[in-house]
Amino acid sequence: MGIPTLSVRPGHPDFLDLPWETSVADWSGGRVVELPTGVHRHAIVFVSYDEGIYAIKELPRHLAHHEYDSLRILQERLRAIAPPVGVVERGWVAPDEEWSSAVITEYVPFTFTYRELIRGGGFGDRRDQMLDAFAGLLVEMHLAGGYWGDCSLSNVLYRYDAGTVDAIMIDAETVEVRDHLSDGQRRHDLDIMETNVAGGMADIAISQGRDLDDADLALGTDVISRYQALWDELTVDPVIAADERYRIRARINRLNDLGFEVGDVTLIPDESGGNRLRMSVNVGGRNYHSSRLYRLARIEASEHQARQILSDLHYHSAREPFSSAESRDLMAMMWRVQIFEPLLQRVRADVPQREPVQAYADFLHHRFLMSSVQGRDVGSAEAYIHWVDEDFPGYDPADAVEPPV
Ligand SMILES: Nc1ncnc2c1ncn2[C@@H]1O[C@H](COP(=O)(O)OP(=O)(O)O)[C@@H](O)[C@H]1O
Ligand SMILES: [Mg+2]
Repeated sequence: MGIPTLSVRPGHPDFLDLPWETSVADWSGGRVVELPTGVHRHAIVFVSYDEGIYAIKELPRHLAHHEYDSLRILQERLRAIAPPVGVVERGWVAPDEEWSSAVITEYVPFTFTYRELIRGGGFGDRRDQMLDAFAGLLVEMHLAGGYWGDCSLSNVLYRYDAGTVDAIMIDAETVEVRDHLSDGQRRHDLDIMETNVAGGMADIAISQGRDLDDADLALGTDVISRYQALWDELTVDPVIAADERYRIRARINRLNDLGFEVGDVTLIPDESGGNRLRMSVNVGGRNYHSSRLYRLARIEASEHQARQILSDLHYHSAREPFSSAESRDLMAMMWRVQIFEPLLQRVRADVPQREPVQAYADFLHHRFLMSSVQGRDVGSAEAYIHWVDEDFPGYDPADAVEPPV
């Protein structure tokens, strides 16, 4: 008794030094770190290693394996998901006991739960962004062939992402991954989400001592209409006239703007005849900007961050327009070495409490706002001092660590 069976992916600790002989609910001290969690059923604990922080969630054996396997398959198909690290079996505990097994995921940093976002009634400016992100995640999930089974506001973490909100999937206990979902399965998943969201809003109203009549029980219905609008845009194939081929480019641009990669575009003569074509596109993952930034400059960033950082690359390249694909690639690398890296280093030193790439994206946004307000191109040096001053009061620019250029 006492030594579990552990399967862990490479690049992580072996977790053997943890006190597996007791339930995680009883762990404290040592590697355990106290971090806030959302509403949940199972015992969960966070542990810290040199490699990073991990979440360990206890479940009966078949559920643990199901969740771990689902996360692994989905990780290949979804952009925003808690990365699965390992699964643990306590062989001496009956398999249907809550604490017989556990799933380990990488802790997703810089996130908050929907309760923190909603706190104080209303969601202010963030309401639309959060609901769009939540609906968008469900669309991505369905495009990837995943039936969630228990989609709720508390099974998602939220992260500020370059001025908007990103939704990250964490709880895959009920997920079933297929090649393709039928409309009925999608509908069913949306029904579950609608009920869960109403329940979540009722819980909040009760915990705030408000009347149930005040609870926003129709919030899930709002999410469904956001879901439907995006789903239609991605999957309803328009019919175009033969002389409207510009609409092909327009649709691809629109999908890229929404962040989706586009694979093959297929044009099929429409049954209605009359020289008309049905345009069907193969929509890929929602990582158009992040994979483009990676291809060009080998920088890893989230989709929204990448969109802003790419605009910085364009801003600088606009001064020296490139003539060929080769010089465009060279320009991207020069921008990275001469502009991006030194500034990122400076951000790391000046505002260590922030995730650096996100802070970089925030700075770019600040520079853009300053330039719009002043009606002139405010340079990076001036905008940087202003940004740190305004967003991080108490900071003295004289303390700035000069970038090693
Ligand atoms: N990888 C993770 N990173 C950050 N927080 C996490 C992670 N996994 C779980 N959590 C936190 O723990 C809570 C419960 O996780 P969840 O998987 O939904 O458990 P349950 O199956 O009990 O509902 C989440 O709301 C979240 O706050
Ligand atoms: Mg959950």
